[in-house]
Amino acid sequence: MTGASGGLGAPTCDRISAEGGTVVCTDVGATGDGSSPDRCRELDVTDRRAWQSLVAEIMAEYGRLDGALFAHGVAGPVTLAQETSASDWAHTIEVNLTGAFYGLRALVPVMRRTSYGRIVAVSSIGAVTANPRQAAYSASKAGLNALVKSVAKECADDSVTVNTIAPSLMDTPMLAGLDEARFATLLAKVPLGRPGTALEFAALAGWLLSSEASFVTGQVVDLSGGRNQ
Ligand SMILES: NC(=O)c1ccc[n+]([C@@H]2O[C@H](COP(=O)([O-])OP(=O)(O)OC[C@H]3O[C@@H](n4cnc5c(N)ncnc54)[C@H](O)[C@@H]3O)[C@@H](O)[C@H]2O)c1
Repeated sequence: MTGASGGLGAPTCDRISAEGGTVVCTDVGATGDGSSPDRCRELDVTDRRAWQSLVAEIMAEYGRLDGALFAHGVAGPVTLAQETSASDWAHTIEVNLTGAFYGLRALVPVMRRTSYGRIVAVSSIGAVTANPRQAAYSASKAGLNALVKSVAKECADDSVTVNTIAPSLMDTPMLAGLDEARFATLLAKVPLGRPGTALEFAALAGWLLSSEASFVTGQVVDLSGGRNQ
């Protein structure tokens, strides 16, 4: 799992572990052994060689790799597109989109060899509806949806499923970066009238990562409280 110490990653890791799964937790800048969200292994998703090393280490240690959750991400600049710097744009695309591409490149061949796999990447409702003053983020997540749909079709005949989850506002530390007015604007778009919880996310992610989710692939699974604008 990437971004495993994050607001959505950590509770999902805890849930899968509580259900008896073995999770290797990773995050950028981490120093632990990966046994829990508090003890994440280091993985910067933008480092493609680190992805290859991590997958090799997991196979050496556990001999199998059944699923992966990409719960990493950055919100990117909250600016008009015309005022977004090239470096902010590039960083947002690099983490949210290219990081997932490197992950898929490292994981998919291993899963295809065993004819089983579940990959889930966290996208955003903003990929479909697009938020003003968040063009880099919206574009990175729209690219992620398209990437996942392509790869899902490429590996369907090996029973490897690949999906994204599209949350709207979720009650995590990422929201702390929003000013009050922006939070109110985004919340007003959610018919259920509240942010989603990390536990609601973990329940859906846990199911999509399970063997039960055998007939869902290439989908953007909505977790938005009904947001469609
Ligand atoms: N919180 C929300 O309202 C919301 C809404 C829609 C989508 N999302 C998406 O959900 C995902 C998780 O968000 P969250 O709310 O848990 O945010 P968070 O900030 O709590 O967690 C994000 C995690 O990504 C990690 N990360 C950042 N750069 C990385 C890199 N280069 N390599 C590896 N890890 C890196 C961070 O260290 C952090 O642990 C993100 O993709 C985010 O875009 C969140």
